[in-house]
Amino acid sequence: TRLYVPYETTALAMGADEVATRIVREAKVRGASIELVRNGSRGLAWLEPLVEVETPAGRVAYGPVEPDDVAALFDSGFLESRTQHALSRGATEEIPYLKKQQRLTFARIGITDPLSIEDYKTHDGFRGLEKALRLAPQAIVDEVTASGLRGRGGAAFPTGIKWQTVLDAPADRKYIVCNADEGDSGTFADRLVMECDPYLLIEGMTIAGLAVGATQGYIYLRSEYPLAHQLMNEAIARAEAAGYLGENLLDSGRRFNLEVRLGAGAYICGEETSLLESLEGKRGLVRAKPPLPAIEGLFGQPTVVNNVLSLAAVPYILDKGGQAYADYGMGRSRGTLALQLAGNVQRGGLVELAFGATLRELMEDFGDGTFSGRPLRAVQVGGPLGAYLPKSQWDTPMDYEAFAAIGAVLGHGGVVMFDDTVDMGEQARFAMEFCAIESCGKCTPCRIGATRGLETIDRIRADDRRDANLALLGELCETMVDGSLCAMGGMTPFPVQSVLEHFPDDLQGTTAGGR
Ligand code: NAI
Ligand code: SF4
Repeated sequence: TRLYVPYETTALAMGADEVATRIVREAKVRGASIELVRNGSRGLAWLEPLVEVETPAGRVAYGPVEPDDVAALFDSGFLESRTQHALSRGATEEIPYLKKQQRLTFARIGITDPLSIEDYKTHDGFRGLEKALRLAPQAIVDEVTASGLRGRGGAAFPTGIKWQTVLDAPADRKYIVCNADEGDSGTFADRLVMECDPYLLIEGMTIAGLAVGATQGYIYLRSEYPLAHQLMNEAIARAEAAGYLGENLLDSGRRFNLEVRLGAGAYICGEETSLLESLEGKRGLVRAKPPLPAIEGLFGQPTVVNNVLSLAAVPYILDKGGQAYADYGMGRSRGTLALQLAGNVQRGGLVELAFGATLRELMEDFGDGTFSGRPLRAVQVGGPLGAYLPKSQWDTPMDYEAFAAIGAVLGHGGVVMFDDTVDMGEQARFAMEFCAIESCGKCTPCRIGATRGLETIDRIRADDRRDANLALLGELCETMVDGSLCAMGGMTPFPVQSVLEHFPDDLQGTTAGGR
């Protein structure tokens, strides 16, 4: 019997290794013949460690499995799939959380052994690359443009236009840089791609290289992801050995090389220009734009800088056609969005949905409410610089324009839920404090503004000239939005302003931390 136990950070944190060890031991003791596959995670974090058993009718899931559950699972006959154990979740594909999703980018995660090229190919892998190798660069870019794909890192700039800019820029040397510095609170979708389907990112970056004429790619990976680091490096080595990377891609005479570079833990190095500085070996200071990286990027050369999720969407687009991808979504938001449910939530995990579903559907139908069981009060979408949304805004469809219209962002799809015990004044304070710590210091509105903002919020909370300081905070926020050089200082006011607007009473609380 074939069994699957994920080898992915969340599952490992929940004890997957010990579960795997116990399964092997138990099978040996009982003389049962098993084949244990360490797959990626399905992204259903609330069920990890999720153990699957292959049956003639497909895979059957059990979770969350603790090491001490293993013997009882064997007793219940789960290997022969005749069990009704309390942890049985039925056929994996029928679990509503999974079944109700539209998995295009994440179609393979949890199904395959992440490092097996054979498994990847069996599940449609490298078909996009094979297609791209038969196309002229302009035709590849056209396909991506037709898909309507917009940057999934958060800014939602059309990927096709970015690639076109790099394709049209005359230069001997161009680069593909993947932003894998996933720094937003509550986000883990980039990590899931790298840990659970690393060849997908390799394939997406290679296609990008063929499209714009770049032969070298770098993955800028946050150092907090050691498993992703190890698995990406191993996948790159295997892809090279099998001819999917390197000097002669699938005997086509075309080449593309790929390397991983580690960041050192600065949030601002997720901003594309400071990322490039860091990649060049310098301090992660933001560069003024223009010039755009597409014209003068890494080492001054035309560079595609894309988020992991943007690049990971590309193989599907090439394989199935841009139109197939564009058939999903609403308005100008085409395709799917990888939402990451986190914070005070019953069922956290990855939810890939076509644009257009509402936040309420996501938090209720998938999230199943708060973990604490208390009423939900606020939700922050799009990372630490995203607005906090009150109940009245939860029916907003998840679409870039609909969110912009209410002063919110979808960002990289992080959704962090808070119950009614949250002190929103403290959350507003946190935004300024975060910016004061993470600011690169290059421009005044952000460097000075965040520190002054923190002090002003503390005064408001201590009831020190409250009205005057509230007015001052409002002005300071406007100055930061209008005057900051990059999104760090430019977006820090969003969560603060949303608290001022929707949860004003919370700001009147006592000053936190005795400050
Ligand atoms: P931006 O709007 O300045 O640029 C978006 C992208 O389009 C950049 O790559 C830029 O170089 C490119 N671009 C713009 N005009 C172009 C043109 N005419 N031709 C070719 N390329 C062009 O936004 P920025 O500052 O890069 O990103 C801000 C976003 O980052 C925010 O909206 C936020 O949601 C997101 N963010 C994401 C985080 C994460 O962990 N994923 C963390 C923090 C912020
Ligand atoms: Fe640096 Fe902040 Fe200015 Fe961005 S807004 S350039 S992080 S000081």
